[in-house]
Formats: sequence, structure tokens, C-alpha cells
Amino acid sequence: MTKKAEYVLIIGSSNIDLNIYSKRFPNPGETVTGGIFKQCLGGKGANQAVASVRSGANTIFIGKIGIDSFGNQMLSQLIDEGINMEHILRDPQEPSGVAFILINKNGENMISVAPGANFRLNPEEIRSKAEIIKNANSIVVQMEIPTETIQEIFTIASKGNGFKILNPAPLKLIPLEVLEMVDIIIPNEGELYKMHSLLGFEELIKVGNQRIIQASKDISSLGIGYIITTLGNKGCIIFDGKKDEFFKISPPKVKAIDTVGAGDCFIGALASMLNKGENILNAVEFATVAASIAVTRKGAQESMPYFSEVQNRIKELKLQKR
Ligand code: RIB
Repeated sequence: MTKKAEYVLIIGSSNIDLNIYSKRFPNPGETVTGGIFKQCLGGKGANQAVASVRSGANTIFIGKIGIDSFGNQMLSQLIDEGINMEHILRDPQEPSGVAFILINKNGENMISVAPGANFRLNPEEIRSKAEIIKNANSIVVQMEIPTETIQEIFTIASKGNGFKILNPAPLKLIPLEVLEMVDIIIPNEGELYKMHSLLGFEELIKVGNQRIIQASKDISSLGIGYIITTLGNKGCIIFDGKKDEFFKISPPKVKAIDTVGAGDCFIGALASMLNKGENILNAVEFATVAASIAVTRKGAQESMPYFSEVQNRIKELKLQKR
């Protein structure tokens, strides 16, 4: 009997990113000129799919895009990447998602999104993809699609055996029933605290890493296996809810020029490694190095490194440590 192909399934957003690189961000009401414009492919879901496929996993992407030239560009680019796009949906009414992004000289960003078609992905359409969802090895969802759609995805995914990963970005209220179905949550530090407060836990009094650990402990008491909090150039903290243990992973030092999509790179690379059967620590270590490469390049999807680049960088880092 032939073995079934194992795959990562990413369900979420696809956007066109309109980036301006300038020295600094404008203040409200101010005009800053002299920037450089670049049009890129983005959207948290599609970014994660590119990171996953470039890290070596069979990757399927499901999302909703407009019937417009932006949608055509997304589709042809993601197909060229080698992502399975057979299940993409197109909306006849809303345009494809667009993000306006400002990037300053430190590579930091500010993002404003017009979700368009992304927000028309509905639970019924998800039900029509039930077999693909149930059979996935890892399922990754972000929050640039409607909450009821996310709930339906995890309800169906719970009938299968894949890892269920939620990237709660951009953060909004997440129903408890949804959280209870998730195996791994990957917020950034701000999202972790906001989620903690929205869930009604007692105010955090600890500071620094202890604050992150306390918030993670509280949230994981809802039955979530792992909370991985990404900390930008400080790496991440993994909290293992079952063992009540935490690990801090530090990234290599790099000069960041564009951090757009760095978190997406981390998540896509992580899902790809879990799909391969790596344990969580090894998967996070790989994802951390992948993200540290992505921030040294412009654009979201185009900055995602390939498996061999990450592997070579890991080898170099090991040699430097000797
Ligand atoms: O996470 C970065 C992404 O957020 C950008 O590519 C933008 O499109 C928004 O979805």
C-alpha cells in the first residue's frame, strides 16, 4: 500500500503589500517624503505557506482572493512557489486584500490592511474542504479571516490527527471553544498579554520573562499544549503546558532591514519541520534561524529562506560556537 502524502495546510489571508521604506514613520498629520516604494506579495497566510514550502514541506493553501489582477498575481506566484492552490476560492464581489506598510530604517513596520475577499471565506466553504483539513499533518490558521470560519476549521481539524496551530494575529477576541481545540498558539509578546487580558485572567504583576511565563501558564490551563511567544530579535519562549516547562531560544544576531513577515516565516518554517516529524525544540530552533535570515531581506514572501540556506546557516553557527 502506498503511504499517503503528508502535508502542511495553511488557511488564511493573501494580500498585496504596498511597502514604503523610509528613514522614519510619520506622526499623525505629518508627511514624510523620500521613501522607496516596493510592491510585494504578502498576507499572513500566504506568507506562512511560502515559508512552509521553501522549508521543504508539501504545502496546501486555502484562502479567498478577488477576481482581479492582484488575485491573478497572487495565484500565479504561489503556484510558481510549488504550493498546491487547487482549493483557492475567488470572490466575485470583494477585491483582493491589500496592505499598506511603512518600514523605517531599523526595519520596523506599521501595517494597515483592507482585507477585502479574505473576510468572505465562510464556514460553509470550509465544510466543503473537510477531507483536506482532516488529513493534514499540520494545520495553521491566523486571524485575518472571520472568527466563525476559524472555529469551523478547528472543529473539522479536531476529527483528524494533525497539529492544530493558531497564530492569533491580528489579535481579537477568540472564543474559548476555539482555544480549547488548539495544540500550539504562537502570539507575539503584545498579542500574548492582550489575549491574557481578553480571556479575563488576573492582571499580571511579574515583569520580563516571568511575565511571559505567567501569561503562558494561565492561557495553557485552558488545555493548550504549547504557547510559543515570539520576541522579535530576542527569539522566543516556548511554554510546554503538559510538562509545565519553558525554554528560551535566542536567535543569531543580524542587521534587520525589513521585519515584515518575520513572524510568518517562523510559523511556516516551524509547521514544515513538525510535518517532517521533528520535535518541537528542533522545529523552533530551525524556525528561529529561518526568521533571522528573512529580516535581512526586503518583502514578505520573497524574503523567506529555502531549507538549504537555513541548514547552512545552522552549520555556520555551530562552527562559530566551537
Ligand atoms: O505579517 C505580515 C503580513 O501582515 C503582511 O504581509 C501583510 O499583508 C499583513 O497581512
